[in-house]
Amino acid sequence: MITVFGSINVDLVLKTEHLPVPGETVLCPSYEMVAGGKGANQALAAARSGAAVRMVGCVGDDSFKKLALNDLNEAGVDLSAVQTTSSRTSCAAVMVDEAGENAIVVASGANRDATSDLIPNDAFGPSNFLVLQMEVPHEENWLAVDRASSTGTKVVLSVAPAYPIPSRILDAVDYILVNELEGRTIAAASGIGDVPPEELAKSLAVRHDTTCIMTLGSAGAIAADCDNTWHVPSLPIDPVVDTTGAGDAFAGCFASALSDGKTIEDALNFAAIGASLSCASLGAQPSFPTAEEIRFARL
Ligand code: RIB
Repeated sequence: MITVFGSINVDLVLKTEHLPVPGETVLCPSYEMVAGGKGANQALAAARSGAAVRMVGCVGDDSFKKLALNDLNEAGVDLSAVQTTSSRTSCAAVMVDEAGENAIVVASGANRDATSDLIPNDAFGPSNFLVLQMEVPHEENWLAVDRASSTGTKVVLSVAPAYPIPSRILDAVDYILVNELEGRTIAAASGIGDVPPEELAKSLAVRHDTTCIMTLGSAGAIAADCDNTWHVPSLPIDPVVDTTGAGDAFAGCFASALSDGKTIEDALNFAAIGASLSCASLGAQPSFPTAEEIRFARL
């Protein structure tokens, strides 16, 4: 079983010709409202790609709640540990330009109410995975890591949005998942200089005796532990419509493959294809592929 402790948002997706610079107003014809949030996205990606998943987090008692949980519900994600609080359901303004690049502002709302004690005890244990990101209170993440460490639970930490991570936490997690910016943020805090991506992933892995995975967009992903280095390609997508949530698709598919007993190399390939396919249409959750679509794309 995979438990995802993290954010649950509603995304207002605005497709613009270009992203606004400070002080600029840009117009776009319309917008989409879709379920989002890095936590919920990763939970959905894991469930769609075949895993049994539980989501733990908070929403508000408002009109956004139903939309925020809709796709998770349809995918069969266990929502019994999602709590409704007096805060507003989190909302994200997601601007996407013609090249599929994005800029995002998240109003955290109920995500700030998420506490690690919402995670049921049966989520922990050597055969279970705990997946974390950085959109809920960080101290609550670290408490969850402590519970996971003392029970042999495998932890996947997606360092998104980028934030320096305490060294003792990096030592405790099994898989650190970053893009290049996130990798450089935590490497700087660990005293690792400005080195190429592969060296950076290796340095983090060796420094913290962990596995570090760095996604590199259309260049695929690299990963390293103390003994091995892997490089997996992405799948060419034309046109790239929206890269929003591609990192979340990678994280969810990676955890899904690992919980299915796949090797790291297989899990990386599975995740790289899942993330690539998610760039082919607008919005994060609506674009996430099923296990069958990933397998078919691999042939
Ligand atoms: O990673 C993409 C996600 O970031 C969006 O769904 C948005 O809600 C923000 O959390």
